[in-house]
Amino acid sequence: MADFKKVGIVGIGGLMGHGVAQVTAAAGYQVLGIESQQSALDAGVKRIDDSLSKVVARNVKKGVYDEAAGAAEKAEIMGRISTSLDINDASSCDLVIEAIPENMDLKLEFYKNLGNIVESNPDCVFASNTSSLQITQMAEISGRPDKFVGLHFFNPVQLMKLVEVIRTDHTNDETFDKMITFGKKIGKTTVSAKDTPGFIVNRLLVPYLTQAMAMVDRDEASIEDIDVSMQLGAGHPMGPIHLSDYIGLDTCHSIIVGWQKDFPKEAAFIMPECLDAKVKAGDFGRKTGKGFYHWDGEKKGERVE
Ligand code: 3HC
Repeated sequence: MADFKKVGIVGIGGLMGHGVAQVTAAAGYQVLGIESQQSALDAGVKRIDDSLSKVVARNVKKGVYDEAAGAAEKAEIMGRISTSLDINDASSCDLVIEAIPENMDLKLEFYKNLGNIVESNPDCVFASNTSSLQITQMAEISGRPDKFVGLHFFNPVQLMKLVEVIRTDHTNDETFDKMITFGKKIGKTTVSAKDTPGFIVNRLLVPYLTQAMAMVDRDEASIEDIDVSMQLGAGHPMGPIHLSDYIGLDTCHSIIVGWQKDFPKEAAFIMPECLDAKVKAGDFGRKTGKGFYHWDGEKKGERVE
């Protein structure tokens, strides 16, 4: 089973895409980061640079290596990442990981086009980092459903140890095994998931987050008390309101909108009023500097009154 030589990451500018590119390059793969706008490409490269600086600083502090060796390692990883504004360059890759916005129409259009672009490379594998959309539909339109998986990472990709590998009824064993091996090579624990709404983690996590927001709607507890309760009472690293801000309220919102459309009878898929209002006001949490809390970059501040 030949390993991948060059991995295309489409959407390298985003929260997930830059992290996937970083861990892939750090594992020794050549990476081609693709975006449609120069500003997004620049943002992605800067995010990787900043994150690698943190990794190096931590390793120097721990005595893993000295500053010079850390700088050399960072340069080596950055050197494995090339970039492009042209999706046609994906034809030079043998694995393409897609991390574009969570919109099914956009993804279907993307995969139809990608299937044509990569037609001359029949072994190229496609992997979608969708958090909640159906993989089967994308696989079918791509023209290579047997070589298509979901590859669901968690935020921040650099620190979270899991990746879900989602196989559809079309995915062949070789592709699935290759992707499990790839997940391990980039340092993650892999789990095998089916193409069900939210796979494993988000099927459990998103209803929990929205239940916490429903408590806010019912004025049952303050957001700080809900967060501290789940941190100290259940041992979670972040409480649910904090985590929702951290993931992005727009992301939580779009997952629920999609699920309610596709599974209207599923009682677990609720849209809290406070979530809907925040998203309609453009307050998406960490990424916009304001959600349930104020944010200064990565740092959570006071609650929004
Ligand atoms: N890159 C590199 N290093 C980073 C980093 C990044 N992006 N972010 C943080 N770090 C470093 C910090 O610099 C710090 O280094 P230091 O120890 O040398 O100071 C170290 O990592 C630890 O960071 P912090 O001190 O800021 O934070 P914590 O120890 O509190 O851990 C956390 C941060 C791992 C994010 C933890 O709070 C956590 O696990 N939170 C929950 C995250 C979670 O649940 N994610 C999944 C969301 S669901 C999802 O993504 C799915 C999607 O489809 C919705």
